[in-house]
Amino acid sequence: MSTIENQGLMRHSDKTVLSIDNKYLSEANLDTFIDILGRTITNTLRFRIETDCVRSAEVGALVSDKNTTQSLSEDGMSLEELIQLYERSILPACINFGSPKFMGFPDTGTQLGGILGAILADLLQQNLINGQICSPSATQVELTVLQWFRSLVGYEVFPLASVWDVGAIVTHGGTLSNTIAMMLARENHFPGSMQLGLRKMKPAYLVVPRGIGHYSVKSAQMWLGCGSHLLEVPTQNYRYDLDSLKETILAHAQDVMAVVAYAGDSRTMTIDNLCGVRDVVRSIRNNIWLHADACHGHLLGASKKHESMIDGISSFDSISIDPHKSIDIPYTASALLVRDPSTLKKISTYSDLIMQQDFSIGQMTPMIGSKSWMSLKIWFAMQNLGRKGMGELVETRIDNARLFADLIRDHPDFSLLNKPDYHSVIFVYRPEKIKCDQRLVNEVNSAIYREMVKEGQWYLHSFTLPADDLRQGLVRPLRYMSGNIRVNETKLIEILDYIDQLGARCLGDLVL
Ligand SMILES: Cc1ncc(COP(=O)(O)O)c(C=O)c1O
Repeated sequence: MSTIENQGLMRHSDKTVLSIDNKYLSEANLDTFIDILGRTITNTLRFRIETDCVRSAEVGALVSDKNTTQSLSEDGMSLEELIQLYERSILPACINFGSPKFMGFPDTGTQLGGILGAILADLLQQNLINGQICSPSATQVELTVLQWFRSLVGYEVFPLASVWDVGAIVTHGGTLSNTIAMMLARENHFPGSMQLGLRKMKPAYLVVPRGIGHYSVKSAQMWLGCGSHLLEVPTQNYRYDLDSLKETILAHAQDVMAVVAYAGDSRTMTIDNLCGVRDVVRSIRNNIWLHADACHGHLLGASKKHESMIDGISSFDSISIDPHKSIDIPYTASALLVRDPSTLKKISTYSDLIMQQDFSIGQMTPMIGSKSWMSLKIWFAMQNLGRKGMGELVETRIDNARLFADLIRDHPDFSLLNKPDYHSVIFVYRPEKIKCDQRLVNEVNSAIYREMVKEGQWYLHSFTLPADDLRQGLVRPLRYMSGNIRVNETKLIEILDYIDQLGARCLGDLVL
């Protein structure tokens, strides 16, 4: 078989051969490369449709042996050699979020349009920093996708005379989207701080629901030089307790920089009472920055049946969304949407290295320079699913979460800790004989989690949560997240049996 390497050599037989020349895409190696690409992609996609979460619970030889660091090849390896190494040592220990036994997170990365768009974006090498010279059609695709998301959450969509009319930016993840939202909140609270710096040292409080928020907003407050001034408000059923929210804000009214509400918090996926939160905040001070973290919940806007759950979100000043979580596209893709597009000008970037053209997105994206074409996979996925398909996805997730919650309720060895709003079911293994011993309940659930990860067949997630119904400290629950539509009723019954048996074993070990 001819290899890319010797094709390169033949081409340069009459001049000095550059040893790396044949390792770059060219006419001479195109066919061989297509063959290699096809075979590798096929093997990888076969892995993605396997049943267990990992092929080998052992971490790959490449990284597992702490005593041997893989040395960097001196002369370079051929693609065939690299693929063998990848298939032997790297792929088998990759975790497969798309397996029907993977129930930890919704981001499976299995939406076909999304996969195609992700591959094409990598092949096309467009840079979303500048429109005309780096990404002429990509910029248009990106702005289009952002407008679709605006309409999903009920924000007004404006005609585009320039990038400044779109009122949204694509970022690399929810953490960055939330951080940029906090930057807007800071600028709103300390006008001019972008230019003048933070000269007034009065506090800039950030209000969040206690125990369920994502770390990104708290960290952003510190990353942005505002210090750690967090006001954590008690919740009821994982939603802001509105009386406590009011009391908290009133106690610090002039110093509150932002209030963050979740349309799908990271742990329970509860959708907060967004109208209620808005009304409380606005009744106290009209210019407190209101941010909705809808990294998960924005997709509810695609379902006629469930869209009312995010009523009120369009009156928030900013909304973060994570399509890599919501529509199963390959990592990563997020966006920050702002109600009033002109606010983005307050945190704009000026440099003559970024074109000051109407359609240079880089002017609008703080903390991001070169940017890959993340929006192409979103575009492919949204067009592939259509609004109806996205609605169906939401409805299937909610149906599956409710089904699993019913299975938990009916099972004597488990306790349900939330009434699922969207796609998260929180529960603990708690058989009758240990019901009142919360320390043991936590220990056994932690042990179940550790053993499950070690065995590598199934995956449920685990974390700490304020013990709403147990009324004592923190719980260490397990969580089924019904994002993965390959998970069906049979698998839900099977995992409960598996956890029940594992729980009995772990409990036996603990009380021995
Ligand atoms: C509610 C919420 N917000 C923000 C984030 C951060 O998103 P990312 O991991 O894309 O940075 C997460 C991640 O799980 C999340 O659940």
